[in-house]
Amino acid sequence: MAFKAIQVQPGGGYDKVVVGSCEAAPPAAGEISVRVRASSLNYHDFAVVSGLWGPSETRIPLADGAGEVVAVGDGVSEFAVGDAVVSTFFPDWLDGQPHVEGFSRVPGDGLDGYAREQLTAPATWFTRAPRGWSFAEAATLPTAGLTAWRALMVDGGLMPGETVLVQGTGGVSIFALQFAKLAGATVIATSSSDEKLERLKRLGADALINYRSTPAWGERVRELTDGRGVDHVVEVGGPGTLEQSMTAARIGGHLALIGILTGISGELNLVPALFKQLRLQSVLVGSRAQQQAMVRAIDANGLRPVIDRHFPLDALVDAFRYQESNRHVGKICVDL
Ligand SMILES: NC(=O)c1ccc[n+]([C@@H]2O[C@H](COP(=O)([O-])OP(=O)(O)OC[C@H]3O[C@@H](n4cnc5c(N)ncnc54)[C@H](OP(=O)(O)O)[C@@H]3O)[C@@H](O)[C@H]2O)c1
Repeated sequence: MAFKAIQVQPGGGYDKVVVGSCEAAPPAAGEISVRVRASSLNYHDFAVVSGLWGPSETRIPLADGAGEVVAVGDGVSEFAVGDAVVSTFFPDWLDGQPHVEGFSRVPGDGLDGYAREQLTAPATWFTRAPRGWSFAEAATLPTAGLTAWRALMVDGGLMPGETVLVQGTGGVSIFALQFAKLAGATVIATSSSDEKLERLKRLGADALINYRSTPAWGERVRELTDGRGVDHVVEVGGPGTLEQSMTAARIGGHLALIGILTGISGELNLVPALFKQLRLQSVLVGSRAQQQAMVRAIDANGLRPVIDRHFPLDALVDAFRYQESNRHVGKICVDL
C-alpha cells in the first residue's frame, strides 16, 4: 500500500522538496508498522532539506517521528497495536558506548526519515513515548531531548545544586534548561533577545544574559557564580561561542560540545582549557537505552516540552523557513 511522503531530491534545497509516496510492507519477524503522526524540526534536518548538507540520493527527511503502532510482526513483545511510540536517532545504537560515526544510518539523512505517513521497521528503532504526551510532544524527543539529556545526565552526571549554562532558546537548549531544573540545578541562560529571555525566566532560568548586549558573557557568568564559574556548559554555538564558554566554566568544568550554530571551524586558544583542566565532551545525540531512561524520568516528573508552533506536513518548507528566522522558542512540530 502506498502512503504519502515528502521527498528531498539529490543536493537538497527548498525547490527540491516534493510530495511523493512510499511503501510500507506488512511487518516481518521483529518488525512493527507505525502510522507516523508527528515529527519535529532540528538544525540537522534544516541542513539536509535546505541543501547545506543535501542528500546524495532522493531522501525522505526528518529524524524525529512519533506515532501509533498499527501492526506487529512475530516475536515482538515490547509493543502492541495501539501503542504510542517514538523513533530513535541512531536505530543501530541500542546501548553501551557509542559505536557509530556520522549520519550514514540516521533517519532523514543516511536513511529515509519520518516525513511519511507510515513505515515498517525493526521494533528496536522505537521506544515507547512518555505517558499522556501528544504525538507532537513525543516527536520533540529523539534528537533535541535526548541530546540535552545525555549531555547533562549521562556525560555530565549532573547533581542537584550544580550550575548549568544554556545558550539560546532552541530545542536542545530549552530541554537542557528543563532537565537541569528537574535535577535541582541552577540555570544561567543566554539569548539574543530580551523578549526571549523573559520566556526563559518563566521556564525557570535563574539568571539571564543577553549575549548581543553582553558580548563578554563568559565574565558575566563568572560574576553570577561569585567567580567560580559553572559546572556544565551546554555548548550549541560552536567556534563563535567556545571561548566565552571556557571563560564561563569552573576549573574542571564540563563543556558538552553539541552545536555549530556559529559555523564549523575557527581559531581556538586552547590554553584556558588546559589551565582550567576543562572536560570537553563531544555529543552526538544518544543511544536507545538512554532514550528509554529519559522517557522514564519524564513519566516520573510530569515534564512537558516547549512547542513553539505546529505546521502540517505539506507546509514543511514553510516550517523550515520559520526555523531559519530564529523567531522560535523550543520546538517546531510537524503534524501528519
Ligand atoms: N551534537 C548533537 O547531538 C546535536 C543534536 C541536536 C542539535 N545539535 C546542534 O545544536 C545546535 C542547536 O540545535 P537546535 O535544534 O536546538 O537549534 P534551533 O532550535 O534551531 O535553535 C536555534 C537557536 O539557537 C540560538 N542561537 C543562534 N545563534 C546563537 C549563538 N551564537 N549563541 C547562542 N545561541 C544562539 C538562537 O536562540 P536565541 O535567539 O534565543 O539566541 C536560535 O533561535 C545546532 O548547531 C544543531 O546542529 C547537535
